[in-house]
Amino acid sequence: MPLPSKTRRKKTLKVLFATPEIHPLVKTGGLGDVSGALPPALRHVGVDARVLVPGYSKLMAAVPKKRLLARMSGIPEHGEIRLLSAAMPGSGTPLLIVDYPPYYDRPGGPYLDARGRDWPDNMWRFGLLSRVAALLGSGGGPLAWRPDIVHCNDWQTGLAPALLHFAPGPKAATVITIHNLAYQGIFPPEYVTRLGLPASSFSMEGVEYYGSLSFLKAGLFYADHITTVSPTYAAEIQGEPLGFGLQGLLAARKAHLTGIVNGVDLEHWNPSADPFLPKTYSAHRLAGKQANKLALQRRLGLEGSPDVPLLGMVSRITDQKGVDLVLQIASRIIAEPAQLALLGTGDPALEQACLKLARRHPGRIGLHIGFDEGLSHLVEAGSDIFLMPSRFEPCGLNQMYSMIYGTPPVVHATGGLADTVVDATPATLKDGSATGFVFDRLTPQDFLAAVRRALSAYRDKKTWRGLQRNGMGRDFSWERSALEYRAVYDTLLT
Ligand code: ADP
Ligand code: GLC
Repeated sequence: MPLPSKTRRKKTLKVLFATPEIHPLVKTGGLGDVSGALPPALRHVGVDARVLVPGYSKLMAAVPKKRLLARMSGIPEHGEIRLLSAAMPGSGTPLLIVDYPPYYDRPGGPYLDARGRDWPDNMWRFGLLSRVAALLGSGGGPLAWRPDIVHCNDWQTGLAPALLHFAPGPKAATVITIHNLAYQGIFPPEYVTRLGLPASSFSMEGVEYYGSLSFLKAGLFYADHITTVSPTYAAEIQGEPLGFGLQGLLAARKAHLTGIVNGVDLEHWNPSADPFLPKTYSAHRLAGKQANKLALQRRLGLEGSPDVPLLGMVSRITDQKGVDLVLQIASRIIAEPAQLALLGTGDPALEQACLKLARRHPGRIGLHIGFDEGLSHLVEAGSDIFLMPSRFEPCGLNQMYSMIYGTPPVVHATGGLADTVVDATPATLKDGSATGFVFDRLTPQDFLAAVRRALSAYRDKKTWRGLQRNGMGRDFSWERSALEYRAVYDTLLT
C-alpha cells in the first residue's frame, strides 16, 4: 500500500504493531480502539506500520480476501502455523494474521470464555502471538518484509522483546506500550523454556516476578523502550501503589519510559457524523443533542424529562473504574434531582450491586449490563455530564469522547484523566480552557462535591454552553500521538 509521498522519508521506517485486539473487529476496551487507530495514523505520517493479530474466529469471519503468506512449522509443541495477510476493513491498514485454529478458533472473547473465566491456555495463545512477532522481527523470519521496530502492547505481546533479545543475528528494536499495568500475564515458571526462553532468563534480572513468569515484566525488562499512554501515568507507575510491584524496574528504566496520550478516532467518534445517533449535532448546532437525551432516556427506561440533568457512564465494571463510588453516592445524586445512565460489564459482584441499585430507583437510574457499541455512543451523546471516577486510569478514552460530544466529564485526577481534562475554575472558565470537573481525593465526599459543582454549572446555561464548546473544540487527533511515537522509534534507530 503506497504511503503519502509528502511525508515519505528517505528510507521508510517499518513497524510491526503486535496487539491482541483491534477495533472494530475485536475489542474489550481502549486497547482495541488504539490498535484500530494508531497504525493508520502512523501510516499517515510516513511509517510503514503493519498490525499482527491472532486469527480469532470472529476476526477471520469479518476480514475478506485473506492471502497465505507463509507456513511456519518449526515452533516446538506446535503444529503448522499459517501467517495470512489482509487489509483492515475501513482503514485498509495491512494486517498479518496468526492463523492457528487450536488456539483462536473458539467462541467467547479474546481472553475469557463465555462464562468469564480466563482461557486456561492463555500462556500458549499469547506466547504464540509473541513468538511470531519476535520471528518476524528477527533474521530468521519467514517474510521479505522485515520491521525495524516491533511495537508490542500489554502483557499479551510481552514475551516478544525477551525472545528478540536472545535471538541471534540482526534484529528489530523493540518498544512495549503499557495500556494497563494491572494485568501482567503471570504463569508458572515451567513455561519459561517451553515458550522458547533460556532458563537463565528466569531471574529478577529477567522475566521472573516473585517466583512466576510475568509476560509483562519480560517486555518491560527487555524492550529497548517503554511507552505508556499518558505522562502522568508514566510518573505514577514508578511508585506505589500504581506500579503494581514493578515500580522499581520502571523507575530504573525511566530514561527509556515515555508517556504519550492516546488520540480519538474521529472516523468513529464524531457527533456530527455518528451513525449510532438518532440525531447528529455539532458545537454550532448543539440543540440536536437533546433528541439523543430523549432517546437514551427511552432506551434505558428513564423518565422522559428534558430538564433533569442526566449523568452517564460507560465502563468496564471493575475496581479500577471506581464503580463502587458511583454506587455509594447514587441515591444522593438522583435526589438533586438528576438521572443516571450506566452501561458496562465486568465483575459479577459489582454488576449485581448495580442491578440492585437500578431496581431500587426505577425511572431514575437506567442500567444496561453488556457490551453494546451503539449504546455506548448514545450514552456519550445523550448524557449531560459524564462520570469517570477511576482509581487509576492509564489514559482513558471515554472522557475524551465525552468532551468532543459536548458532555463535560467529572473525573478523578489520575493518569490520563489528569492530563486531558481541565478543571472548571473561575480562571479556566474565563480563559476558555475549562472542559470538565476534576477532583483530587478519591472519596465519596469529594466525588459528590465535584458532581455538585458540575450540576450547578449545568444550571447556568451560558457557562454550560461555554464548557461544552471548549471540550468540543479540543484537538485530540491521533496524528499528534503518531508523531510522538515516530520520534520514539527514531531514537532507537540512530
Ligand atoms: P479501558 O480500556 O480501561 O476499558 P478506555 O476509556 O480507554 O478504558 O476505553 C474503553 C473503551 O471501551 C471505550 O471505547 C468505551 O466506549 C468502550 N466500552 C467500555 N465498556 C463498554 C460497554 N459495556 N459497551 C460498549 N463499549 C464499551
Ligand atoms: C487501558 C487503560 C485505559 C487506556 C486504554 C488504551 O485499558 O485502562 O486507560 O485508555 O488501555 O490505551
